[in-house]
Amino acid sequence: MAGTMKPLLTDIVSGVSSVPPNFIRPESDRPNLHQVISDQSIPVVDLLHLDGPHRPSVVKAIGQACLNYGFFQVKNHGVPNEVIDKMMHVSKEFFHLPESERLKNYSDDPMKTTRLSTSFNVRTENVSSWRDYLRLHCYPLEDYVHEWPTNPPSFREDTGEYCKNTRKLARRLLEAISESLELKRDYINSAALGKHAQHMAINYYPPCPEPELTYGLPGHADPNAITILLQDNVPGLQVLKDGKWIAVNPIPYTFIVNIGDQIQVLSNDRYKSVLHRAVVNCKEERISIPTFYCPSPGAVMQPAPQLIDPVRRPPLYRNFTYSEYYDKFWKRGLNAETCLDMFKI
Ligand code: OGA
Ligand code: NI
Repeated sequence: MAGTMKPLLTDIVSGVSSVPPNFIRPESDRPNLHQVISDQSIPVVDLLHLDGPHRPSVVKAIGQACLNYGFFQVKNHGVPNEVIDKMMHVSKEFFHLPESERLKNYSDDPMKTTRLSTSFNVRTENVSSWRDYLRLHCYPLEDYVHEWPTNPPSFREDTGEYCKNTRKLARRLLEAISESLELKRDYINSAALGKHAQHMAINYYPPCPEPELTYGLPGHADPNAITILLQDNVPGLQVLKDGKWIAVNPIPYTFIVNIGDQIQVLSNDRYKSVLHRAVVNCKEERISIPTFYCPSPGAVMQPAPQLIDPVRRPPLYRNFTYSEYYDKFWKRGLNAETCLDMFKI
């Protein structure tokens, strides 16, 4: 790192009293926080009875949430509280390490499988976002764990344990989503996602002196199959519903699940990958930890043949490999026009 160049937001803005110019959004693209709806939320689905005789009603609740919101929260999801606590704790420790320690993991190359970076893609974007993030590939775990940070000392163990648990949850949710689309229970897991892949991010949003001028993450849709998000107790996530932004206020030990672009393709638009964003606040740092469950790079994505009818429901997307999609996603930058449009027939 040359001279005094500080690549990470945390080290640039600690203690500033105004937002530096490169973070300021044009007036037409600002959060308008007073217009955000905070007395409504997204559905909460209880997974306690997902694997028993009441499965059909839980599957139905998931299907309704996918159809109406593209977003839901889950409780009784099977991931132990202790695993969640350790993941959150080690994440906070990581972002509180001295700059020189954190920078050992820095890269601005979106194709690197382990990297600490800032904003979204500093190589392509014009306005920066108020976020630092550590991104990890995490399935198959043994292929990647040796790249992960070794500081904090428990990082690999705590994060590895968390990944195994969220992978199990992702597979259960994908079974339920398959069934809710009247596909075979194992259609998505066995046929659609190839060998599967799993990525995660640890997002760190420092306090911001002028939260009305910038975003933690601007509105975007996730490119993967489903996302399972853990957030700390500081609000910031907002979801677009009927043209309005709804705040998803934290409920301890629940996960937020959303449909990503690949489920939109596979379902031939029955389920939508919904725009969401993260806003920042002037008081507190915020950590969120999304697990991006995805197809393996070579998997060929297409609308499920069972959901296609040449006359009544023609396929809306051409076939493509997930690596082609992923590459385009990172190159074009985050914006409200979804990447999916580039794959429409
Ligand atoms: C993401 C994301 C939301 C949040 O990382 O893709 O949407 O609350 N994060 O940080
Ligand atoms: Ni997202």
